[in-house]
Amino acid sequence: MEKGRGETLTKSVEEVRAEIPFLRTGIIYLDNAATTPTPEPVIEAMLDYYHEYSANVGRGLHRAAKRATAEFESAREKIARVIGAKSNEIIFTKNTTEAINLVARGLDFRRGDKIITTVFEHHSNLLPWQQLERERGVKLEIVGSSKECLLDPAEFEAAIDKNTRLIATHHVSNAIGSIQPVEEIGKLAQENDIIYLVDAAQSIGHMPVDVGRLHCDFLAAPGHKGLLGPQGTGFLFAREERIRELAPLLTGGGIVDDVELHASKLVEPPQLFDAGTPNIPGVIGLGRACEYVMDIGIEKIAERERKLIELMLAIEENSRVKVYGPRDLERRGGVVSFNVSGLGPHDVASMLDELAKIAVRSGHHCAQPTMRHLRVNGTVRASVHFFNLEQEIEKFVEVVEQIARELGT
Ligand code: ALA
Repeated sequence: MEKGRGETLTKSVEEVRAEIPFLRTGIIYLDNAATTPTPEPVIEAMLDYYHEYSANVGRGLHRAAKRATAEFESAREKIARVIGAKSNEIIFTKNTTEAINLVARGLDFRRGDKIITTVFEHHSNLLPWQQLERERGVKLEIVGSSKECLLDPAEFEAAIDKNTRLIATHHVSNAIGSIQPVEEIGKLAQENDIIYLVDAAQSIGHMPVDVGRLHCDFLAAPGHKGLLGPQGTGFLFAREERIRELAPLLTGGGIVDDVELHASKLVEPPQLFDAGTPNIPGVIGLGRACEYVMDIGIEKIAERERKLIELMLAIEENSRVKVYGPRDLERRGGVVSFNVSGLGPHDVASMLDELAKIAVRSGHHCAQPTMRHLRVNGTVRASVHFFNLEQEIEKFVEVVEQIARELGT
């Protein structure tokens, strides 16, 4: 886009596509909810680290170590800017799963505490709480009844009691695409002095995510999805007032002020959570990726994805295709989950690949309770990002229609 008076310089779809090498393979990539392809500037930031200052962080005093530490730490600021947080509230993790596990194991949950979560979570936002139920006698209450997989704040209100310590919900369903009323749930949690954790795996980078507006204490997110960062990266936002309540998952080198044989004095958060040599190039790449999506403009990404999803929903015109999730487009993220009657989801996914190099995910999407709720074994899931083209979506619709017409029942 040309920079005009008062106009912000942002990247166009064509510019972004030209910077993503993987797209040159000719694939129609509609599996962005699983992971996203990496743009050249993010790859270059990681290569620069390997080529120019490939040193450890927080330890050495030589120039390469100092630069590595500065670049690594600056990634906290870049992430913080995306979500309206402070840099000392950002903990690096290897993925969203680790970020959620850090909260589950790092807080002092005790017998009798209640945790509320939902039927529609990714397994990563359910299993850590189940573990607390088994190991620490925590009571796990699970809400969620809507056919469209939308959460109702009233159900949380009814479930809250004096023992409720934490509410954990996703922002956007990875399996179905429903956008949840996280602001209302967050307000409810805050009013009742309950810790609120948001799994932002499918919203971060795809739509505005502001931890202030969400009223959340913790937010777990990946680097390698909406943010277009490298695989093996993620982070946990832990509100300043909460971060000290959290114990690290790992202790060891790199997080100490002083160590004696039977006692040690540890550093302050967030560096407290960086024991061992971290994924330095990955974190630096993630920092660059945050700048990259901010350069595109997150509102602009959200608007474009909404249009692509609207186009994609044309598959419903075939009566053999059933789409799951909210009817209201405002409540739908960049995911369309569907089945073709008479065919299994894996068959449909394989045919999309074979017929037109279209990449989608099929199966239960690590959300088996959601599948049971919908009374299906699995679905086909197509998921978009800013760089997808209208022509790609039209091709997808055409091939789904062909499969349904020729092989559906
Ligand atoms: N959580 C990722 C997905 O939903 C892997 O596909």
